[in-house]
Amino acid sequence: MRIDIITLLPGLLEGPFSDSILKRAADKGLAEVHVHNLREYGFGKHRQVDDYQFGGGAGMVIMIEPVEKLLDELKAERDYDEVIFVTPDGDLFDQSTANALSLKENIIILCGHYKGIDQRIRDHYITKEISIGDYVLSGGELAAAVISDAVIRLLPGVLNDETSALTDSFQDDLLAPPVYTRPSEHKGWKVPEVLLSGNFKAIDEWRQSEAEKRTKERRPNLWNKKTSSGE
Ligand code: ADE
Repeated sequence: MRIDIITLLPGLLEGPFSDSILKRAADKGLAEVHVHNLREYGFGKHRQVDDYQFGGGAGMVIMIEPVEKLLDELKAERDYDEVIFVTPDGDLFDQSTANALSLKENIIILCGHYKGIDQRIRDHYITKEISIGDYVLSGGELAAAVISDAVIRLLPGVLNDETSALTDSFQDDLLAPPVYTRPSEHKGWKVPEVLLSGNFKAIDEWRQSEAEKRTKERRPNLWNKKTSSGE
């Protein structure tokens, strides 16, 4: 899979992709992330990429042409399955969107800034608009990193333990059950007996019931969605 991220602040994306799982995915050739500096496509000596908004109002708006030029260049090299704009007014990102994106070959993520980008880019080039939550970030870079992480870790071979992405919270609309490791007792705090029992049927049942309890208590909306879908 290949992800091209378009941004005015490429430095913000250096960290997330140079460490841990995302780095391993790149080293194994499973995911390529390319970060493009939109500034390089700006106008004139100052590489201008934004301008005042028509109709007045505070804040600069990213112009069509620099984005268009970069998009045209990328699209001339390969086909893209999605051109995503990350924005607080997009569709809320969730595990099922991550799952769907992990099946794509090539995607572009465009990060917004300032007051936003000219609406015509959104109308004519963007195929999907995604928000990572109901709060406003200073730009789309952290959202692009969150989406890339959630998607890349799902690619076969990226995680060491093949089953671990499937048992994540949310994969079956349930939060994950609690986990414990050694020591089995610390300051009198004991690990639940069943986990030490060696009885795998009982352990599975305990994990399922803890996952359900946690979901009901902490995320009633998720629980209602699950139970109303007839599972
Ligand atoms: N850009 C600014 N805030 C954002 C958010 N919540 N999600 C995605 N992109 C954003």
